[in-house]
Amino acid sequence: MESALDYHTARALLEWQIELGVTETIGDAPVDRYALPDTAPKPKKLQSAKPAPEKSPEADPVEVAQQAAKGAGSLAELRAVMEAFDLCDLKRGARQLVFADGNPAARVMIIGEAPGRDEDREGRPFVGRAGQLLDKMLAAIDLNRAETVYITNVLPWRPPQNRDPKPEEIGMMKPFLERHVALAKPDVLVLMGNISCQAVLGKRGITRLRGNWDQAMNLPVIPMFHPAYLLRQPQMKRQAWADLLELKAKLKGI
Ligand code: URA
Repeated sequence: MESALDYHTARALLEWQIELGVTETIGDAPVDRYALPDTAPKPKKLQSAKPAPEKSPEADPVEVAQQAAKGAGSLAELRAVMEAFDLCDLKRGARQLVFADGNPAARVMIIGEAPGRDEDREGRPFVGRAGQLLDKMLAAIDLNRAETVYITNVLPWRPPQNRDPKPEEIGMMKPFLERHVALAKPDVLVLMGNISCQAVLGKRGITRLRGNWDQAMNLPVIPMFHPAYLLRQPQMKRQAWADLLELKAKLKGI
């Protein structure tokens, strides 16, 4: 029988399955599961099962996050309380928590948006194409993530299909971001793109905000175009270069 799927549809379906984490296809020979003996395990008696931890209907995710973040006395503890935070639905669809990369003692802390597919796989922020461009941008002003830059994201879990984070997701993860900045104690923050500006400054409009120093979390803050945007709009790299020079000058002056 001829397949009803054309090449592109079949390929898109396969890619979608890979995206969902499928690593194996079914066997070559068909199996009639109706003809197999019933070997399904008998359901265990309910009273012997451990009750699943219940989400309290009154739990305010922002308050829970604030309490958890406040209790973290080090970056390792912060990572642990974030791993244990169960009230953000993004956690369910992500492979792992993407906490940070680079040198936590660096003077520059970069805040991106959220992990994408590559970051979700590797568990480190900015490792995909946008991350490679970010590394080149940093190298242009003699910075690098091994020594002089620390990198994190507003959200530590990948949103499905890389959709924009929802305001409630940003709101409940912000206490962790604030604690992250307080523990890392950088000299300046660099906000990559609109989502980071929204989360940290409460403002959007990156074209207007970029390159202008602001103040948030008790630190000087500079918004810049997100490297993913620069990949789509390479003609904007001129402005990004100006912003990088601005950052370099600031670091010399403080
Ligand atoms: N874009 C981001 O904002 N963060 C990442 O970690 C990767 C891509």
